Amino acid sequence: MNEKKAIYPGSFDPPTNGHLDIIDRGLTVFDAIIVSVIVNPSKDALFSVKERKEMLCDIYSSNPRVEIDSFEGLLVEYASKKGANTILRGLRAVSDFEYEFQMALMNRKLNPEIKSVYLMPSPEFTFLSSSIVKEVSSLRGDVSTLVPVSVEKQLKKKLL
Ligand code: COA
Repeated sequence: MNEKKAIYPGSFDPPTNGHLDIIDRGLTVFDAIIVSVIVNPSKDALFSVKERKEMLCDIYSSNPRVEIDSFEGLLVEYASKKGANTILRGLRAVSDFEYEFQMALMNRKLNPEIKSVYLMPSPEFTFLSSSIVKEVSSLRGDVSTLVPVSVEKQLKKKLL
């Protein structure tokens, strides 16, 4: 039987519990998920791609169904190269919809073989973004319920 494999792409600067919620839900649908950090020099990042991959590897080290990787260039080309025919994304709120809809249709145009699948996170994560976590953390706010302990430590190291 063919393995159901999905790519979960994003900036993950840093990964949050909202991202993990989507990955965990995705694992109930797919056999394997490739969490892939986009290499995007035009977006100012707090953590390097290597650091972001290390944080994700650390979180999923004991789960053989989750692979951590990075990519640059067209997402659909990367997905084909990895043998995945699904792109997994989270939809947090209606405000995500327009951007995600545009991206899904463009990706479909570029490669109709690759499908986009959207999952909704738990309501407690719908307000969450990596930027908001970085802002709260830099102002010494408590982010312990928003990111894994290992990520919280890295945030403190970088920002405080
Ligand atoms: N929980 C918490 N936060 C979430 C989240 C979730 N479930 N889902 C998204 N977010 C947040 C991210 O943390 C990020 O926050 P930030 O802006 O504060 O950093 C924000 O939402 C954006 O999400 P992200 O997943 O990083 O998306 P992106 O818009 O940076 O990148 C790609 C989306 C990588 C899928 C897209 O840029 C891409 O495919 N690029 C490749 C080029 C390409 O193929 N282009 C043509 C296709 S249109």
